[in-house]
Amino acid sequence: MPLITVESCTFALFGALGDLAVRKLFPALYQLDRAGLLHADTRIFALARESGSEQQHLAYIDSSLRRFVPEAELEDEHVQRFQARLSYLHVDFLKAEDYVALADRVGDAERLIAYFATPASVYGAICENLASVNLTERTRAVLEKPIGHDLASSRRVNDAVAQFFPENRVYRIDHYLGKETVQNLIALRFANSLFETQWNQNHISHVEITVAEQVGIEGRWGYFDQAGQLRDMIQNHLLQLLCLIAMDPPSDLSADSIRDEKVKVLKALAPFTPERLATQVVRGQYIAGYSEGKPVPGYLEEENSNTQSDTETFVALRADIRNWRWSGVPFYLRTGKRMPQKLSQIVIHFKEPPHYIFAPEQRLQISNRLIIRLQPDEGISLQVMTKDQGLDKGMQLRSGPLQLNFSDTYQSARIPDAYERLLLEVMRGNQNLFVRKDEIEYAWQWCDQLIAGWKKAGDAPKPYAAGSWGPMSSIALITRDGRSWYGDI
Ligand code: BG6
Repeated sequence: MPLITVESCTFALFGALGDLAVRKLFPALYQLDRAGLLHADTRIFALARESGSEQQHLAYIDSSLRRFVPEAELEDEHVQRFQARLSYLHVDFLKAEDYVALADRVGDAERLIAYFATPASVYGAICENLASVNLTERTRAVLEKPIGHDLASSRRVNDAVAQFFPENRVYRIDHYLGKETVQNLIALRFANSLFETQWNQNHISHVEITVAEQVGIEGRWGYFDQAGQLRDMIQNHLLQLLCLIAMDPPSDLSADSIRDEKVKVLKALAPFTPERLATQVVRGQYIAGYSEGKPVPGYLEEENSNTQSDTETFVALRADIRNWRWSGVPFYLRTGKRMPQKLSQIVIHFKEPPHYIFAPEQRLQISNRLIIRLQPDEGISLQVMTKDQGLDKGMQLRSGPLQLNFSDTYQSARIPDAYERLLLEVMRGNQNLFVRKDEIEYAWQWCDQLIAGWKKAGDAPKPYAAGSWGPMSSIALITRDGRSWYGDI
């Protein structure tokens, strides 16, 4: 039996027929139900603007569930129980009168969770309409990214929501915070005294954060072209990872203690001067190439593309944090579409020992690294130097891992999807995996000046072949500092 008990909640899922809902949200709710983590009385209202019968839309949700949940995890008993919780309601999000039926169906349920899987431009209207049928007081509002496309627009969205929901009932999603290994970062850093003494500029030379995707745009050209990789990935996921690595230990695990520390990091990020922009930031756009041995089109040749677009599909940059702990320690961030493999990892490179006593030709090998692999093969490995075995090896050194591979170590447990964890935490009223308003705003502020710098410089993104690790200049970005991206082949 689960160790966690959850209260009964009613879910109102706005945008229930959209990609996110069918790929992630329904499967996550199903898995929670399957794990015994939905209260017996929990009901789920799928809300969407599409016309058509309830039966037809529920059949679509059911077929998507069968597509996105592994067959072995779709036991009849669990599927039927889940289906019994679901109903579909046609709601035009902008029409107050359409919310009356929702209010009737919700009745006097104590807790409503309103999940906004819609464009952020309608968040304000949804809140207002929920308020018009008295559905805000007992409600937690869950907001999907992107919240705006710059500081000004994100403030407009947040302010519109804040008229109806106090911050302690707003849950802003960054799904990276729900990933098991990201959670483990907090445990690793703050449940082991071993690392904290080393976690600063005295011992760490640099940090790499790579979030590489093998896929291209996957039919989302319209959305993606407005955003680009900086807004889509760096402003949120990569900066959140950077914060978790760089923040000071919080005084406790409460949401605000953690978020206060993350905000301090965001505030300390050095802005980009024109000189830094020219040498420490690289924008790229993929051209045709190969993915898993098959030819794939370039960004400008994708379905529905505009051949003039200069939107970036790749960004590499060096971020500097201006505080005592991190002064002089670069954080190299890199993310792109159509890279050779899907890989999200953080590599902490420790400094060389202060006095070197081994053969000079082995010197370059010497460095401890902590590798935190978020996906695939979630795990943590600490590269340590040992002596090669054998009489003939002399004092030959080798680097070997002290390894914790989650799927091997915890063999029986499946690794839950990030959305399962996040939905569970919303039900439990725990905000520490969600992003506070000021975090989003400081992140936008930093990205906005970067985008403004790009605009001013007017440079087109550098081409890179699909299936490669990005433009050559992204390699120069790090080699110029005498380093290289870990593990690139
Ligand atoms: C989303 C981005 O937030 O994250 C997508 O909008 C991206 O463009 C996705 O593909 C990556 O998430 P994950 O969990 O697959 O690494």
